[in-house]
Amino acid sequence: MLLGPPGAGKGTQARALATLWGIPQVSSGDLLRTVVREDSELGREAASYMDRGQLVPDDLVLKLIDERLRKKDAHKGFILDGFPRNVTQAEALASGLDRYNLKLDKVVAVIVPDEEIVKRISGRRTCAKCNAMYHVAFEPPKTPGVCDKCGGELYQREDDAEETVRERLKVYAGETRPLLDYYGQLGLLDQIDGVGRTDEVEKRILSAVNGVAKQ
Ligand code: AP5
Repeated sequence: MLLGPPGAGKGTQARALATLWGIPQVSSGDLLRTVVREDSELGREAASYMDRGQLVPDDLVLKLIDERLRKKDAHKGFILDGFPRNVTQAEALASGLDRYNLKLDKVVAVIVPDEEIVKRISGRRTCAKCNAMYHVAFEPPKTPGVCDKCGGELYQREDDAEETVRERLKVYAGETRPLLDYYGQLGLLDQIDGVGRTDEVEKRILSAVNGVAKQ
């Protein structure tokens, strides 16, 4: 599980690790954005929270995660990215894993200071087709506005406006940061510095999971 504030690089790292280990990245944010794109009543409800930087209600998120984890590609393991976001979700995850006789191997919290986060998020561009991530300065695509991987169009997320990012940081501090204590007490947590090149951050994560990760 990758924990951390918005813009810490969870998605970037989860994607790299998913390729390395051959297991899926399960991102509650990506699952929610897919629902929002469908333009259903549920999608409009989710968007009304996301656009304000608030957490989407637990029941909707838990249903999406449950459906995703039942898919066959998740049976040999998965990387959780951005889920859980509060203690209620963490407890629901624990009982879900128990039910299937699974266990959480490791929780890595990626720590990045707020001002660096605002810089990162304001330059982020995301592929509308495959969700690949870029940064206009730190990790630009070869052709501006076009995904290197699939040729899809790159867009800026609605919730990446500076004011919304600051709200998301407040929500992280109030609701998600307590999970550091929660997983710390379970002996599952390692905190790593998320500042530096993406390959350096990846090495820190790999060394934190050393011994429990799939080789
Ligand atoms: P979600 O999609 O989960 O967003 P987030 O947690 O706010 O995280 P981000 O996706 O913004 O950042 P990230 O840590 O993945 O960083 P990234 O790799 O993109 O959630 C969005 C919304 O959905 C929430 O606000 C909420 O409303 C809702 N939601 C989601 N999950 C929920 C849940 N469980 N319960 C309730 N509501 C939920 O990197 C950021 C940028 O930095 C990129 O441009 C990247 O290229 C760049 N970058 C990455 N690493 C580095 C580096 N080392 N150096 C320089 N730049 C870097």
